[in-house]
Order: sequence, then structure tokens, then C-alpha cells
Amino acid sequence: MSNEKTTNPLREGMRLKRLPQPNTLVIFGATGDLTHRKLLPSLFSLYKQNLLPINFSIIAFARRPKTSSEYQNEFKNALPSSGYSPEDKEKLNSFLQYIHYFQGDFSSPDAFIALSEKLKNIEKENRINANRLYYLATPPSAYNTIVENLGAAGLSANDSGWTRIIIEKPFGHDLSSAQDLNRNVKQVFSEEQIYRIDHYLGKETVQNILVFRFANGIFEPIWNRRYIDHVQISFAESIGVEGRGKFYEEIGILRDIIQNHLLQLLCLVAMEPPSSFDADAVRDEKVKVLRAVQPISADDMDKRVVRAQYAAGSLLGQNYISYLDEEGVSPDSTTETYTAMKLSLNNWRWAGVPFFIRAGKRLPKRVTEIAIHFKDAPLQIFGPQAADVSANVLTLNIQPNEGISLRFDSKVPGPTAHIRPVTMDFRYGTSFGEVPPDAYERLLLDAMIGDSTLFTRADENEMAWKIMTPILEHWQNLGKTSIPQYKIGTWGPEEADVLLSDIHNKWRQL
Ligand code: BG6
Repeated sequence: MSNEKTTNPLREGMRLKRLPQPNTLVIFGATGDLTHRKLLPSLFSLYKQNLLPINFSIIAFARRPKTSSEYQNEFKNALPSSGYSPEDKEKLNSFLQYIHYFQGDFSSPDAFIALSEKLKNIEKENRINANRLYYLATPPSAYNTIVENLGAAGLSANDSGWTRIIIEKPFGHDLSSAQDLNRNVKQVFSEEQIYRIDHYLGKETVQNILVFRFANGIFEPIWNRRYIDHVQISFAESIGVEGRGKFYEEIGILRDIIQNHLLQLLCLVAMEPPSSFDADAVRDEKVKVLRAVQPISADDMDKRVVRAQYAAGSLLGQNYISYLDEEGVSPDSTTETYTAMKLSLNNWRWAGVPFFIRAGKRLPKRVTEIAIHFKDAPLQIFGPQAADVSANVLTLNIQPNEGISLRFDSKVPGPTAHIRPVTMDFRYGTSFGEVPPDAYERLLLDAMIGDSTLFTRADENEMAWKIMTPILEHWQNLGKTSIPQYKIGTWGPEEADVLLSDIHNKWRQL
């Protein structure tokens, strides 16, 4: 039987290896959810693909006392039983040898002195340079303390290797806190050392937006206000706050999803072609998009932004409680689990083209997509039979059915000129025969290699907060007013439909 993986020509070049230099990764917040669900599984996956460097080590830094083997076993037991072959299980045992548990308190300078010793010992034992990557996978409230203590212990740079720091989102909770955090981190690390993570940028489908737009010549001429009517960027999840009610109260979906993931998608769709695929060239163009976003004035706020909370309802035959009844949520909370907004960009390419953005939890299913709605044909020559003609829509399916599809009108076979929309589809799974890897794999590898293209720069992060902060302040000024509700399992509140009524359009059915 032929091996499909080696015969599919589209797969050629998929495994070009980019190997990082030997290094040591220190994960702060090693007992947390992110480390167990994303970081360690991604590192294990890189290990299986021989993409980790030789003499690699992981220092799992956390507060609770435990031994390395206890920690390794916890990780091993938490891995799903399916999806791993017997060969993987053998590899797992050797991967686990990389992990050293390190007990320490983020706020204790002594713990960082001890960490420094630990790093030196590992580096000596492995005979490697002091290449160090720190990953802050802790609650954001710990970021400043950890950074300060790393600096005080002399861990922010050294003469015999590189030092980098990855900082998880949320990076700040509004413009001034993001500026403060940037200022504090930059007192210890230089911008080149800082990798602000937005895992959406590590998704294959998100990276493909740039390839689709700038490796192909046919889209660029129509990618502007002359041909595009509007753009819809949608994020839907069927899950709720998953027991993180207390955390969500401080966040809300605007900070959790829109300020970062969806504004990044907006940047990639709307940016000008960068002069090269170089970290700063790409990020310069993204920042320009954010600068072009027209601020939403207080008077316009109600016409352009809608927020809501999920109300009790059922999804796939299961009943769920409302947001207000979730544990840790205040009964008069105004934290939003759904937000939709209309943004405009003040530049030549996009003047007059609205960008509609929505994100919601406890919606009918998990889907993220960008839909580019083109303008109608200038003249309809097919008469009444063309009643079903609809505008062309190009959809970039970020997940879960990763791919791209184009809707266009077609003649229905038969003796009349009856017209109906059809779609032309590209799917990653069928074309490349492979499920895209987890975003964290790519991002961890890039940080070890020193490629910051898929990480956000300080100015980019602050610009994104500059757009969102007036909305957050407006909501704060409204105080404890009740906010619209949408029933679980529906596509959000009716109020959100009004945003598109100006252009006589609707939200896409996902
Ligand atoms: C995270 C948010 O950044 O993204 C979560 O904090 C959300 O609330 C998650 O569930 C969604 O990520 P993905 O990759 O599943 O779309």
C-alpha cells in the first residue's frame, strides 16, 4: 500500500526543520491549567517530531512542594488515553526526563537566586550555553513580581547565551495598565527579548491569511473598498466560563477575545503588504491598521457596540445555567460574555467599509471565521430568475473546519436561467492530509529560535488597548445597569442585529 503521507505532493516541504539552539525553558505557573493543557503537550509533540534541541531542559517553577517525579507523573496521568501510540508512550518516558520541578515562591528573591544556581547546574551538566527562555504562565497579577525578581537575581541577560521571556495574555487590562506593564518589563528586558503571546497568531489558518493575500497575485487588486462591501469577523464558543467565573468577572469577552485574538485577525486581513516577512516589517503594518481604527465616540457607543450575557438555556440537549448563576459571578454583574461591534478604518484602502466583529460564549458551536463580503455585481441582467442571486463571500475558516471557501452564483442545471449560490472549498485536512498542529507548538519553537514575527510588539498591544479602553470606560460609567441577555444555544442578542441594519445585511449563519 502506498504511503499517502510521502506521495501527497502538497506535503512537500512541510517538515522543513528549524532547530533551536540548546536551551533551558523555565515555566512559571507550572501547576496551572495552561501548562498542563497546552504547554507540556505542545513540548511533547515537538519532542516527538525531533524539533526540540539536544540537551533541552524544562524547569517547572511553582509554589507547591513536590518532587520532579511526582510532577512528571501528574502530567503523564493527565494526558488523554487516546491519541497516543505505544511508541509515543515510550517517548513520553524519555521526554519526562527533561522536566525538573522547582519549588519556589514568585515573590521570594531567594527563590530566584536558587533558580539561578539551578540553571547554572543544568547548563554545566548539559554542557550548553546559558540560553534561557522564561514563560510566564501565571495569573497576570504575578507578572511584575516575577520580572522584577528575575532582574534582581541577574537572570535577565548573561554573557554566554540569549535570554528571552514569553508573557501570556492578558497583557494589561486597559491602556494604562498595559503601558505600566510594558514599562516595568522593559526595565528588566529589552523589547527584542520580550515575546508577548497571542496564541491565535500561532494557528496555521491565521498565518495562512498572509500567504493567501500576499503569495497570490489575484486577490490584492480586489482587496479594497472598490470591491469589498463589508467584513465580518466572528468567534463563537459553545463552552461557558468553565468554572472560571471569578476570573471572568475581571475580564469579560472584550478583554479575553476581542482586544487580542480578533483585533489580530482584523490586522492581518486589513494590513498593507509588508516589505518582507520580517518581524518588524509585519508588525509595523499591523500597527498601522490599529492606528487607522476610528475611535468610537461616547455618542456612538450604543449604535456601534453591543454587549450581553448568556441566560439559562440548553445546548445539544443539555441544560446550562445563566452567567449570573455561575459560581464566583456577582448576581448584579455587568461582565459581558458576548460583544459585537462595528469598526471603521480611516485609510484609503478601507474608507467606508465596515468591519463587524463579534465574540460570544455558550453559542451553538465553536467556530472562528473571517467573511469578506464582496459588493453586488453592478447590474443584474438575469431578470426575475435571479431573485436568489447573492453577493460573493470569501470565508477564511480559522477553525474548526480549517480552510477557505468562496461563494459565488451559479446557474441551476435546467432549461431556465435559475440561479443559486454554490461554494468552492479548500480544506487543510483533505489537501494536506494532516490536522494543523496546536498553535503553542509553533510559538514555543519560534521563541526558542528567536523569531518574534508571530508575537505582539509593545506598540501593537497598546494600540489595541487604545481602541478598546473607551468602550470599557463607557461601560464602567454606566455602572450596574442590567445588560441584554441571550439564551444559551442562540446566536447572541437581537440587539447585535441592529449593527448591520444600516447596510441592509445580517450576521452570517455560522
Ligand atoms: C483564550 C481565552 O485566549 O482563547 C479562552 O482566554 C478561549 O476564554 C480560548 O476559550 C479560545 O481559544 P481557541 O484556540 O480554542 O479558539
